[in-house]
Amino acid sequence: MSYQNPKIAEIADVLMHRFAELENKADILKAVELKALYAEIPTLPNDQRASFGQEINSLKQELQKLVDEHQEQSEALPLIDVTAPFDVNVPTDKRPKLLPAENGSKHPLTTEIERITDIFYRMGFEAVGSREIDDEYHMFTALNFPEGHPARDDYDTFMTIQKDKNGNPLVAPAHTSTMQHRVLTENKAKLDKGEPIAVVIPDRVFRNEDLDATHEHTFHQIEGIYVDKGVHAGMLIATLKTYLNEYFGEKLEVKLQPFYFPFTEPSFELAVERPAILRKDDSEEQKWLELLGCGMIHPNVLKMAGIDPEVYTGFAWGQGIERMVMMKNNIEDIRHFQSGKLEFLRQFA
Ligand code: DAH
Repeated sequence: MSYQNPKIAEIADVLMHRFAELENKADILKAVELKALYAEIPTLPNDQRASFGQEINSLKQELQKLVDEHQEQSEALPLIDVTAPFDVNVPTDKRPKLLPAENGSKHPLTTEIERITDIFYRMGFEAVGSREIDDEYHMFTALNFPEGHPARDDYDTFMTIQKDKNGNPLVAPAHTSTMQHRVLTENKAKLDKGEPIAVVIPDRVFRNEDLDATHEHTFHQIEGIYVDKGVHAGMLIATLKTYLNEYFGEKLEVKLQPFYFPFTEPSFELAVERPAILRKDDSEEQKWLELLGCGMIHPNVLKMAGIDPEVYTGFAWGQGIERMVMMKNNIEDIRHFQSGKLEFLRQFA
C-alpha cells in the first residue's frame, strides 16, 4: 500500500521491516511510531487532520491484516518435507532405503492363479474378475437356487446390513459362480455370431467358516464357463483333463462322481489321480484328489440369461485354488496364505 503523506510512508516502511523480524508479530500494533502518529493529529491544521488520520488508520489496518495472516499460517499443520528421505547432507549409508524390488516376490497364490489362467488362455478362454460385493440374485437366484431353498445355506454367505433394491441383504460372494449370469448375458451376442462363450473367472470368495488349518474365510476359486451349439459332457471331461495334464505336467486319470448343484444338471465332482510324488501311501484314499465341482449348465440358468437351452448347451466348473497349491507345496495350514508372514512368503521367492 502506498501512502500520500511522506512521513506516514516512511514509518510504514520502517514498520514493515520490523514486522518481518519480530518474534511476537502482534507487538507491531503497539509500535511507538504509530502512537506518535496518532498524537500528531491534534497538532495539525484543521484541513489536514482528516486525511492524515485516515492514512494512519489504513496503516494500522494493514498491520493488523499482516498479524492475522501470520496467526492463521502458524496455526496450520506444518508442511511435510517430501524430500526428507533423500536429504543429500545425510551420508549414503545412513539414508532410509526403499526395499529393493528384488527382495519382493509373487505371492504363491498369484503365481498359481496366473499359471492356471494362462493354461485356459492357451485353450481359448478369456479371463474376467469377480466382485467383492454382490446381490442374492446373482449369487443364488440366477443360478437356479429357489427362494428359501436349503442349498442356499450350504454357502455360509456373509451378508451386509445394507439391502439391495428388492430388500435383500447384499452378499460377499461365496463362489465365483456369482459371475455366471453376467458372463452369459454379456457374451450371448457371440453365440449369434457362431462363436462360443469361453470364459474363466479366477478370484477371491468369502465364507463364514470356523477357521482352522483347512478353512479360511477368504479364499480363491477359478470358475469356467463354456457354451455353444452341441456342447456335451464329453467335452467338459476332455477340457478339464487337458487342463490338469498341463498343470501337473503328466497324464493323470480323472474320475467323476455324481453330485448336486442347483445350477448344473447333471452335476459332478471331479477327482484327479494324485501325482505319485505327492502320494503318502498306496491307499485308495491317497490315490484320488477331489478337486472341483462341474456339470452341464442347467437349462434354467441359460434361460434366465436369455439363451435358448433348446439351441445351446454348455458346461461349467468351479475349483478351489488353495487346496491344490497347499498340496503341491506341502503347506500345512491354509491360514499362512493371508498371514502376510515373510518367513512363509520368502519360501516362494
Ligand atoms: N460354485 C460351486 C461351489 O463353490 C462350485 C461349482 C460347481 C461351480 C459346479 C460350477 C459348477 O460352475 O458347474 O461350491
